[in-house]
Amino acid sequence: MSDQSRHDAWAEGENYDAYMGRWSRQIAPGFLDWFDAPPGLDWLEVGCGTGALSGAILAKAAPRSLQAIDPSAGFVARARETHADARADFTVGDARALALPDASRDVIVSGLVLNFVPDRPGALAEMARVARPEGRIGFYVWDYPGGGVEFMRAFWTAAAALDPEARTLSEDVRFPFCTPEALASLAREAGLAAVESAEITVSTVFRDFEDFWTPFTLGTGPAPGYCVGLAPAARARLRERLEADLPRQADGSIHLAARAWAIRGRAS
Ligand SMILES: C[S@@+](CC[C@H](N)C(=O)[O-])C[C@H]1O[C@@H](n2cnc3c(N)ncnc32)[C@H](O)[C@@H]1O
Repeated sequence: MSDQSRHDAWAEGENYDAYMGRWSRQIAPGFLDWFDAPPGLDWLEVGCGTGALSGAILAKAAPRSLQAIDPSAGFVARARETHADARADFTVGDARALALPDASRDVIVSGLVLNFVPDRPGALAEMARVARPEGRIGFYVWDYPGGGVEFMRAFWTAAAALDPEARTLSEDVRFPFCTPEALASLAREAGLAAVESAEITVSTVFRDFEDFWTPFTLGTGPAPGYCVGLAPAARARLRERLEADLPRQADGSIHLAARAWAIRGRAS
């Protein structure tokens, strides 16, 4: 694990759902609408986590089968429990070495994962290998460099004001390639044809400050991993700063937005 990735901490399904899963469940249907795959196909999902995109595929895309993999055994167990469906199979696996035969799936997708895979070209090459000729390949990642995930940007801005080291850990510094142009280039370099990109945005509404803050204290994901690693006094200072800075509605709720960039293309 690199120094910057030491806080990524993908393990606890419930904590992930409280922090990110609730928003990734909202963005997945928007991606599928744009991706527009026909029914009756064999799907592979790479990095399924707790099953945000898997659930949307099963509910909306009428797959013939869905194989979903993730390296986190805890996440896979939660996905399996939550999305019991005869068409779906959830297993532990890694994007860089998919345990599947060549040309064995019609559709290969991945939601909010690719930036966390150290060898992105290798992962895309694996997706292309497993796709049938003309198979559909699609993925999306948050707009980290553009500050499109406003709740994360607010967290790291406050953290960096108090702790200069936090600046090097934030996702916008770690993942500068999460732009439509750079992602489309990666897809073309992996041999995909007819590559297109799109923006998908959801609103992230927090009931009150506690609803915003509590997921950061649960430790799952880069920002929560950083937050729980702080000494209690430093964590209290970070909380105070965010509580003072975040804009509120009249009822105390906090209305922000989260933008992802999506890519789709065809295997050769
Ligand atoms: C932000 S979560 C996204 C999970 C899910 N797709 C969603 O939309 O909620 C990132 C996921 O990437 C997975 N991941 C990290 N490295 C991976 C790799 N090398 N291969 C496949 N998945 C990986 C993590 O285990 C985690 O589940």
